[in-house]
Amino acid sequence: MDSDSRIASLTDVPTESTFLFRVATESGERREAILVRDGRSASSTDEGDIDVHCWLNYCQHFTHIKLDKGTGAAMRNGELVCENHGAYFEPDSGVCTFGPCEGARLPGLEVTVRDGGVYLTDDEYEFVGPGPIDDGDDLTSTSNVEF
Ligand code: FES
Repeated sequence: MDSDSRIASLTDVPTESTFLFRVATESGERREAILVRDGRSASSTDEGDIDVHCWLNYCQHFTHIKLDKGTGAAMRNGELVCENHGAYFEPDSGVCTFGPCEGARLPGLEVTVRDGGVYLTDDEYEFVGPGPIDDGDDLTSTSNVEF
């Protein structure tokens, strides 16, 4: 793990929302991803107790819809919520437990918590920076148009 793969400080990952950042695939396509604390460790301040999970920032009902639209994803009862049609996703498994894509799973990225930081340790992605993709830079599919 080097400083280039450091996504954020552990304290930057909110207890009841998400930390948004950008990644690039091996072919150079940009994607957004989110860090979320596991519900069981959400309020802990002890690094050894804190589980942080990482998911691509796209609902599995309509995959152009972002869970975190730039101000943190909504969470209810410890689960991520897509505010478009109310799908719920478990923060630790990424599985949709309720809603129009029930049973689907958010695509995950591997991260590691060490020395107060969260690092991207997934060979398929490279850390780009914190925050959302600029609209003009968004290369995600728009073929799944919502009607
Ligand atoms: S787009 Fe997320 S629930 Fe419909």
